[in-house]
Amino acid sequence: MPQFLSSVAVHRRPDPFALMEAIVDQVAAYLAKAVERESFKPLGMATGRTMEPFYEALIQRLTSWPAPQLEQLKRCWLSFNLDEYVGLSPGDSRSFAAYMEAQLGCHLELSPCQLQLPDGTAKDPGVEARRYGSALHQAGGIGLQLLGLGGNGHVGFNEPPSQPNSCCRVVTLQRATRIQNASAFGGSPDEVPEQAITLGLNEILAAEEIHLIVTGAAKAEILRTALLDPCSDEVPASWLQRHSRVHVWVDDAACAHLPLLS
Ligand code: GLP
Repeated sequence: MPQFLSSVAVHRRPDPFALMEAIVDQVAAYLAKAVERESFKPLGMATGRTMEPFYEALIQRLTSWPAPQLEQLKRCWLSFNLDEYVGLSPGDSRSFAAYMEAQLGCHLELSPCQLQLPDGTAKDPGVEARRYGSALHQAGGIGLQLLGLGGNGHVGFNEPPSQPNSCCRVVTLQRATRIQNASAFGGSPDEVPEQAITLGLNEILAAEEIHLIVTGAAKAEILRTALLDPCSDEVPASWLQRHSRVHVWVDDAACAHLPLLS
């Protein structure tokens, strides 16, 4: 396992397909152990285009498990997503709740209460953010956290600047993020909600282990900055350097600017 920061293990595969299989090996092994030991800590789930082939590969793997093991997993599954757009309901196909149902929930027959997300339609989003953060805390915090990387260095919707002790809160999305995520909104950045509720870096960094998945050349430079430059609020993902168990999963294109791997 290549290692260039003391606590960050970087795993490289030539293409997204090989990469997802490698991540699924590790995540499925984690889930199998949790089921066997009957000690299931909440999983931290991410959305975005990067994650779609991961969920597809994960479902393929899990549905090949022996039936009793899979049934047990379905019974004890509990996950908390990173974020949700303010103003979108789970019934809205552009919401992250709908994304999770389509990518994971319907395939594993999970009930909505097993797939937790902030309620984007809550009357007071600030109150909802505090409720969601404390629900996660009461559930014991995250065991394994999956993360994608925003083009501006965000994780979840922790937009720059974000401090490492930031908690679950309402955030205003940067124009760059609304442009990046416009494809789910008919290609129009103006249709992307202006605000979201996101877990903070505080909750993310409290996870027992973190898996950051990055694919494609467009994210090579921000990934280099996040991993190799000093930690900074201006690159929220850089705070991951402070965590003691971070795995970074990259394809060849995404790690082109990482000196020890390219
Ligand atoms: C979105 C999500 C993040 C996700 C990131 C990358 O805005 N809030 O959790 O990791 O941006 O998205 P993509 O994989 O589509 O590039």
